[in-house]
Amino acid sequence: MKAMTIQIAPSILSADFCNLERDLKAIESADLVHVDVMDHHFVPNLTLGEPIVKRICEVTDLPVDVHLMIEDPDRWAPGYAQAGAASVSFHMGATHAPVRLARQLRDMGCRACFAVRPAEPVEPIFDILDEFDMILVMTVEPGFGGQKFLANQMAKVRRLRDEITRRGLSTHIQVDGGVSPATAPVVAQAGADVLVAGSAVYGASDRAAAIDNIRNQAQSAYRA
Ligand code: DX5
Ligand code: ZN
Repeated sequence: MKAMTIQIAPSILSADFCNLERDLKAIESADLVHVDVMDHHFVPNLTLGEPIVKRICEVTDLPVDVHLMIEDPDRWAPGYAQAGAASVSFHMGATHAPVRLARQLRDMGCRACFAVRPAEPVEPIFDILDEFDMILVMTVEPGFGGQKFLANQMAKVRRLRDEITRRGLSTHIQVDGGVSPATAPVVAQAGADVLVAGSAVYGASDRAAAIDNIRNQAQSAYRA
């Protein structure tokens, strides 16, 4: 497999929500900003919604990667594309018509991403893989930052990467949960190319250095 460029997407879930503009500026050296939208129903946590995502899109120069952990994304996801998101991820366990929703997002100029929780398989997505720009493999149960990385998800990432390579697709694989300089090599070796990191970036005093560190660790381990 040819070498791919690793992208780092800091999650603002671990940022200071009262100093969001400052904390967005601190991650300007990243490739994307990952915004976790939670609704107290799909996951036992509540974060922010469309109006705040719209302001984030106005304030940052980075592409905004919205991760919807909400019920009924079929109804709500297009609003986030409208708000300016560059990509929107919605969950297998929440959507009713993933192909219709993906096409709707793409028609709006937004990247469509399908997310799976740790107990959900990727094989059912294989037949509709070309409908998506990215597949998000959760490496924690969604809902909270700072949880322990689930290394048992790496076999799933490898199966997905093999399928993408076999078919010559350019689908990105995003991994979200417990990503740090220590786990980045494992993730990259398995074939993920978009790494979300919340606590590992915002928990560090030098956020730019943390981003560099994760990127370098992943890049050198990405299987050649
Ligand atoms: C968890 C969120 C993640 C979270 C990751 O449900 O989807 O994006 O911010 O946090 P860390 O990197 O601390 O595991
Ligand atoms: Zn996330």
